[in-house]
Amino acid sequence: MNPIEIIEKYYDKKSELYEILIKHSSQVRDKALEVVQKHSELGADSQFVAEAAMLHDIGIIFTNAPKIYCFGKHNYIEHGYLGSELLQQEGFLKHALVCERHTGVGLSLDWIVRNKLPVPHRDMVPISIEEQIICYADKFFSKTNLNVCLPIEVIVKKLEKHEKSNSSLFLEWHNRFR
Ligand SMILES: [Fe+2]
Repeated sequence: MNPIEIIEKYYDKKSELYEILIKHSSQVRDKALEVVQKHSELGADSQFVAEAAMLHDIGIIFTNAPKIYCFGKHNYIEHGYLGSELLQQEGFLKHALVCERHTGVGLSLDWIVRNKLPVPHRDMVPISIEEQIICYADKFFSKTNLNVCLPIEVIVKKLEKHEKSNSSLFLEWHNRFR
């Protein structure tokens, strides 16, 4: 499959949003591939990682986040499962799971319920090694500040804004994937 072809079915190639999505997704893809190459012991599928990393944020177009030129009606936190639904319709079920399992360090059902998040009530946490690597790589890059790779301390602080245990899972990944 060609992820760019799928992106271009939904995004206007000449738009600012397209630029942001492609830049961010390429950064995440390259970081994730770096992990795959450094750690052959993980047995991750590099082709799948490359494709799914490019598509992980495809759902942002349906959300309302004017700072990054998203003018949809959904809450930003919904972009994961919305992207997942889009890729399911396109017939890419495995890639779809990467979309819905990459927000933060994943959204557990318990977390969704406790925080009354406007997303479907199911566990959306990264399970396969490829899902974990992409979720990890994504944390290094922001879509509002495209030119930086965030330092670990900043990522940890951001995750701890939500819950302390979020940063311990990230740090566990960091130990395995660095
Ligand atoms: Fe992302």
